[in-house]
Amino acid sequence: MADSIFMTAEQTDPTIDTLLARHPALGYDGQGHLMFDGVSLQELARHAGTPCWIISETVLQERATRFKEAFSHYRQSVRFHFAVKSQDHKACLSSLAQLDYGADVVSGGEMERALNAGIKAENIVFSGVGKTDDELKRAVALGIAQVNIESAEELFRLNDLALSLNRTVRVALRVNPDIDAGTHAKITTGKAENKFGIAHQHVAELYGKAQNELDGIDIVGLAVHLGSQIITETPYRTGYNKLASMVQDLRRRHLKVSVLDCGGGLGISYRNEKAPEPSMLAKVIAETLPDDVTLRLEPGRWISAPSGVLLSRIIEIKKGSRQFAIIDGGMNDLVRPAMYDAWHGILPVSKAINVRPIPYDVVGPICESSDVFARNRSLPPLEKGDLITILDAGAYGSVMSSTYNSRPFAAQIMVREGQWSIIQKRQTLDEILQRELLPSWAAG
Ligand code: LLP
Repeated sequence: MADSIFMTAEQTDPTIDTLLARHPALGYDGQGHLMFDGVSLQELARHAGTPCWIISETVLQERATRFKEAFSHYRQSVRFHFAVKSQDHKACLSSLAQLDYGADVVSGGEMERALNAGIKAENIVFSGVGKTDDELKRAVALGIAQVNIESAEELFRLNDLALSLNRTVRVALRVNPDIDAGTHAKITTGKAENKFGIAHQHVAELYGKAQNELDGIDIVGLAVHLGSQIITETPYRTGYNKLASMVQDLRRRHLKVSVLDCGGGLGISYRNEKAPEPSMLAKVIAETLPDDVTLRLEPGRWISAPSGVLLSRIIEIKKGSRQFAIIDGGMNDLVRPAMYDAWHGILPVSKAINVRPIPYDVVGPICESSDVFARNRSLPPLEKGDLITILDAGAYGSVMSSTYNSRPFAAQIMVREGQWSIIQKRQTLDEILQRELLPSWAAG
């Protein structure tokens, strides 16, 4: 069980130096100010206020390139579809499009975002457990790369929709491999009890129907997504071995399989986990899956998480039986610790030299006891007004934000080798209030 990524008391935390070594774009300058991709975080806080998200385009592109390079020795075609759900900002998507990344989308909204960022329809894969008629019709009309089908019902519905538009649509069946990837229960997707995918014992029959009976469907292959934050080889090896034997079975039945979508899921080291490199994934795929198919990969977190941080200011230090550092970012901004007990590295923005660290509970301002970013975290003595930064917040960070407690969406800034640019303005309270109407009977 890879539960080492979650907050448990018995584990040791990495030192500031270890965190910095893992994040080469972060470092303290001569004055002890934390820099991210050549930009002072203090300066960004002054310009944009806090809390705010900072995304390094350098890190994003460097990781996206590293991920692709792990597969560069493949002779067969490999297509990369960035999981838009992990980070959906247009600036990030268009930056990845420059590196020839397509998109894995799970809603009509994400599909439009991908197009809007310059990703071509032919490079978009549409996954997702509940796709509406309108979303599917749009996908058919656009002629996207493929729709990953989640159920027999969805397949027949898509066939009808495609026929009504006089079109065919490329489809892969998403298999539920029924394996335990050893991740947190709330991000497990590949077990039989999860809502995702088609039970593997039903795949062959449905595949046959799709190929032989459904004129609106061009069935090209299978898709799996084994889970997220996977940090060991075993789930991949087990899952892809299952996939390979399903391909053999389909081919024995004279069914054509030309595409395998391997999903995403590669984890990172948030705390002290030994996280694998993409080369592990490439090796397992090479050793398990047939080499006469086009492969699709849907990485999200591995590329985007380390590219982003959440910058926040201390509102108050509350002393008592525990020391609370109350910051202006909350679970409405970054929900991962509250939702998955996720551990995120925290760095002070000003480096204190030769001081004894103190254990802090770093908490947000939201009226929920789960609004906690870290418990008993050793940090140099902090004061009201100091800045801290929460690491690895580039994936499933801003995309999962809410305005709970009427806290507007935070600003977002992109940095690149000393330059910075605001890529999303802080939402104003007026913008929130403007959307609200009184009922007609009260308005007059
Ligand atoms: N493809 C499919 C079909 C997926 O469902 C997902 C993630 C991915 C690709 C990308 O997985 P990644 O490479 O990012 O692990 N909010 C949670 C993670 C949920 C992941 C859902 N599916 C978190 O913050 O940990």
